[in-house]
Order: sequence, then structure tokens, then C-alpha cells
Amino acid sequence: MKVVSVVGARPQFVKAAAISRRLRDAHDERLVHTGQHYDPELSAVFFDELALPVPAYHLGVGSAPHATQTAEMMTALESIVEDESPDVVLVYGDTNSTLAGALVTAKSSATLAHVEAGLRSYDPSMPEEVNRRLTDHAADLLFAPGPDAKRTLEREGITEGVSVPGDVMYDTLLAIRDRLDAVAGDGPSVPDEYVLATVHRAKNTDEPERLESIVDGLARLERPVVFPAHPRTVDALHDHGLWERLTADVRVVDPVGYATFVRLVEGATCVATDSGGVQKEAFYLDTPCVTLRDRTEWTATVDAGWNDLVGANADRIVDAVRAAENPPAKPDLYGNGNAAARIVTTLERHVDDD
Ligand code: UD1
Ligand code: UDP
Repeated sequence: MKVVSVVGARPQFVKAAAISRRLRDAHDERLVHTGQHYDPELSAVFFDELALPVPAYHLGVGSAPHATQTAEMMTALESIVEDESPDVVLVYGDTNSTLAGALVTAKSSATLAHVEAGLRSYDPSMPEEVNRRLTDHAADLLFAPGPDAKRTLEREGITEGVSVPGDVMYDTLLAIRDRLDAVAGDGPSVPDEYVLATVHRAKNTDEPERLESIVDGLARLERPVVFPAHPRTVDALHDHGLWERLTADVRVVDPVGYATFVRLVEGATCVATDSGGVQKEAFYLDTPCVTLRDRTEWTATVDAGWNDLVGANADRIVDAVRAAENPPAKPDLYGNGNAAARIVTTLERHVDDD
């Protein structure tokens, strides 16, 4: 079986690591890096730590407005899919790299497989919501992380090609969890008790009043905050005149590698984030999460009592972090960490049947 896997942004390297490892055992995988993320701490560090193969193609697209970025990716991907003639193109999650891979593949003879299908925040202002909806509606094979995602697809009329292998991010986490110290560098020094924060959603960085409320909320927490900041967030803090508002107790550091980040999540008393993937990782690592958004696609973590959706409201951030310390017993939500094996088996059967 020949597979082209399209990745480009930090969370996709984490997701692809689990499947790529399985695929390379028995199949021909060509990894395509669109170049959406290019800073070493957002890209190269993941290839090193997660032993991802050197990409067969690096498109070097970089940062640009949505249409320009997506179009450049599509133009390059179209030639690759034509030249390689793969059985399957795998796309992950909900970034512009996902959408570019989906649109190109949908008009080719290859099977389009979407990993992390069926997620919805029902917030149309999120570019990711557009990307995931369109990708799901173009896909031939849809891999849902949990049963609720499958039901969502059914409600949208998508019933063919859907399976529920679980969450590949859980696979990646389990594969590294016992080796964190060996894989991670020193990482930032942290106090015994801290809150771990990440912020990068377009809405939170581009709307100054939202970012201001988040900064104020974090600065008012009872514990120090460790804040590995995405470059767009650092830029936004400067652009909106908020950098000076960060107190000594909100420690902004560069983005850290995956193993270091997982160790930080594990050691935190609470995570405050607007990330998608980090909401789940906090759950897997028994750390309560406060989500700095109005909506989430990971609703099951909220229903389970492990994730509190507070938006960008300083008072609610402070209250939720204070209340987040004793979550209830944890259900299994997104499988048991063997999603990649199940996905590869489904791909093999699909290609054999074709
Ligand atoms: C992208 C995804 C988002 C995902 C996130 C993971 C889209 C629309 N967004 O958001 O879904 O959650 O990746 O982190 O696909 N930049 C750098 N260095 C880099 C990359 C980006 O400095 O290596 C800066 C640039 O100023 C750029 C900005 O970050 O303009 C935004 O980058 P972009 O890839 O467009 O979106 P992200 O916010 O990273
Ligand atoms: N992550 C990391 N270092 C950081 C912040 C995040 O390794 O400094 C990892 C995190 O463990 C998760 C992924 O990046 O696996 C999530 O990416 P991000 O929050 O950028 O994107 P989202 O999941 O919101 O699309």
C-alpha cells in the first residue's frame, strides 16, 4: 500500500507520529510537510523527538493569509499526488494543511482518509471549523476519535467509511510517557506548583480585548503560571501593548518540545489553554483543564467534569482554575491508545477490497 501523509503544523506531527511508525513497518509512506510551521520549536523538534521520517517533500509554504497559504499548498500537492499516485492520502485534524490535502485528493483517484474526523465546535468563526467540516464531507474514510464524533457525522448524513479507532494523540502520548526524561531536554525550570498555559487561537490573539482578559486572568491566579507561547501570541502581546501587563508570576517561555510539554502538563495543578490537543492531553495525564474558548470540539471532556469552558473572561478563568482541583472519576473517552494500529488495518482492508 502506498500512502501520502500530509502534515504541516505542530499538532499534526504529534498525530502522524503514531500512524507513520505503523505504516513504515509494512508499507510505503511518503510524508509531505507543507511548511505551515517552520520555526524549529514548532517543527524540527517534533521530528527529532517523535522519530518522524525526513519528509519526502517539503513544500516550504510558510505563513500567509488563508487563501494564499492553502492555494500554494494545493498547487504543490496536486503534482505530488499525480506523480506518486498513492492508494491513500492521509490528512490530520483541522488546519489549512488538512484542507489543502483534502481538496486536492478529493479530485484525484486516491482514497482520502481523515484522522480526527467528526469533531465540531459549532463555532463558524474558527477557521478550523471550516477546515474540519469540508474535509469530513470530502473524505472516503473517516477516523473518529470517539463515539460522539461518529454520531455527529451521522447527523450530517455521513455514514459510509466511518470508524471509531480512538485518538492517535493518545497513542503518541503512551509511546513516550515512560521515556520523557530521556527524550526531553532540561526544559524551563518550574516551581512545585504551577498552572500551565497555552494560547494561540486566532480569536484570542487577534481580538485585543480577549487577549487582555486572558492576560489579566492568568496574572490573578493564586499559583505561578508557566506559559510556553506560540510566536503569534508573542507578536500579539507586543502589538496590543499587553507584554508589559505580564507579571513576574506569568512566565512566558518559548514553545517547548513535545516530551518537555507532556512533562509540564503532567506536573501542573491545572492547564489553562485554547488548544485542541492540549485539552485531551490534560485529560489523559489527569490534570484538570480550563479552556479559554467559548466553544470546544472536545465536549466529552467537559461533560466528564475534567474541562471547564470559560471563554476569555478574567473572573471566570480565576474561578475555574481555583475550582479545578478535584475532578470526578475519569471515564474512557477516546479509546485505549491503539488507534494507529486500527487505522492502518482499516486502510489495508480498504485498499485490498478496491
Ligand atoms: C495553525 C492552525 C491551527 C493549529 C495551530 C497549531 C490553521 C488555520 N491554523 O495555527 O488550527 O491549532 O497551527 O499550533 O491552519 N508563525 C511563526 N512560526 C511558525 C509558524 C507560524 O512565527 O513556524 C507565526 C506567523 O506569524 C504566522 C502565525 O504564526 O502568521 C500564524 O501561523 P499559522 O500557521 O497561519 O496559524 P497558527 O496560529 O500557527
Ligand atoms: N505542544 C508542544 N509544545 C508546546 C505546546 C504544545 O509540544 O509548547 C504540543 C502539545 O503537546 C500537543 C500539540 O502541541 O500535542 C498541540 O498543538 P497546538 O496546541 O499548537 O494545536 P491544536 O491542538 O490547538 O491544533
